Amino acid sequence: MKNIRVRLEENSYIIYAGYLLKKLGGALEGKRYGKKVLLLTDSNVFPLYGRAVEKAVAETGREIVHALLKPGEAEKNFKKAHEIVEWCAKNRMGRDDTLMTLGGGVASDLGGFAASIYMRGINFAAVPTTLLAQVDASVGGKTGVNLPFGKNLVGSFYQPSFVYIDFKTLGTLPEREIKQGIAEIIKYGVIKSRNIFNMMKNTPPGRIKKHLPALIEESVMIKKVVVEKDEKERTGLREILNFGHTVGHAVEIAHFPQFNHGESVALGMVGESYLSWKLGMCKKDVYSGIKEVVGKHRLPFSFAGIKTDKMLDFMKYDKKARQGNIRFVMVKNIGTVKTGVVIKAEDAVKLLKEMIRDEKP
Ligand SMILES: NC(=O)c1ccc[n+]([C@@H]2O[C@H](COP(=O)([O-])OP(=O)(O)OC[C@H]3O[C@@H](n4cnc5c(N)ncnc54)[C@H](O)[C@@H]3O)[C@@H](O)[C@H]2O)c1
Ligand SMILES: [Zn+2]
Repeated sequence: MKNIRVRLEENSYIIYAGYLLKKLGGALEGKRYGKKVLLLTDSNVFPLYGRAVEKAVAETGREIVHALLKPGEAEKNFKKAHEIVEWCAKNRMGRDDTLMTLGGGVASDLGGFAASIYMRGINFAAVPTTLLAQVDASVGGKTGVNLPFGKNLVGSFYQPSFVYIDFKTLGTLPEREIKQGIAEIIKYGVIKSRNIFNMMKNTPPGRIKKHLPALIEESVMIKKVVVEKDEKERTGLREILNFGHTVGHAVEIAHFPQFNHGESVALGMVGESYLSWKLGMCKKDVYSGIKEVVGKHRLPFSFAGIKTDKMLDFMKYDKKARQGNIRFVMVKNIGTVKTGVVIKAEDAVKLLKEMIRDEKP
């Protein structure tokens, strides 16, 4: 059990990590959270954990109603955000009432966005139940929805009033979803923590569940420190969190829907550490060590069959690219990275092709 305070002046809040859902009422103590709670969750999660949350909230004397999403990314759209704010209005929710999300990053991105625009902002509380949401999506205040033109194109920076993590909810999460979070945890190790990286290196995948509470707490601490220094992504510090995501994003799009986000980031970390080695930023064993840890946790690590030409098209026209130049986060050593390294998309892809040739026995 750990209370992690995210210090952001008037937007400060607490991440309660390692508490049971049935004790959630404790986080709502005091008048600040109004009298009504709208619980936004999806139809996979509600039958598992919805009742426990409703009971805990009702015990505080508050009225709670729930709204169900269909599971999956498709619900993260403007139309749904509109429906949610209409539910809020229909339930006569006021400025001090609370929109609570229970579920993965889809629920918290969408619910957080709706909470940020209804009455110019009502209380938002997040109860993440996927590993990815516990270590990443529910920390940092980015909310938003997708447009047909791309992911997360509309959104806001809106900090929750609190985040409440019950590690036990991960017990029902499908293995492929656990691995998405594992990829992000490996990322935290590479960018900031030898301790995380070594734990991932030395623990067989079958035994990792036992270590998840400690890994989640340390990952959240890393993200919170970065967010405290660069809440609105203005100073460039937050860029460190993009390690593995530049190549990863290109893989995800070039192969859609073959690899999910975590699998793409896994490949992205292998690719970007290879670039780091080839550009003289790190030793070869840093690249091979990252590749080994990724593979050990049964995430994809081989670029054989990856469509590098398609990736190049995407990288060149990506909204973040300038005249084909792309900013990368390069690894120097485990726990230390360098942000803002500019490489031409063509050169990066040429090196990835070389890596594919190198991989062949
Ligand atoms: N805001 C941010 O900083 C940030 C960071 C990373 C990702 N994201 C966003 O998060 C989203 C992905 O989040 P996600 O991977 O959590 O996906 P998700 O919310 O779609 O959840 C994945 C699946 O797991 C199911 N599920 C959730 N909890 C469960 C549980 N405990 N037991 C059984 N099933 C459960 C869900 O019903 C769903 O089918 C993307 O939209 C991404 O853009 C946001
Ligand atoms: Zn990610």
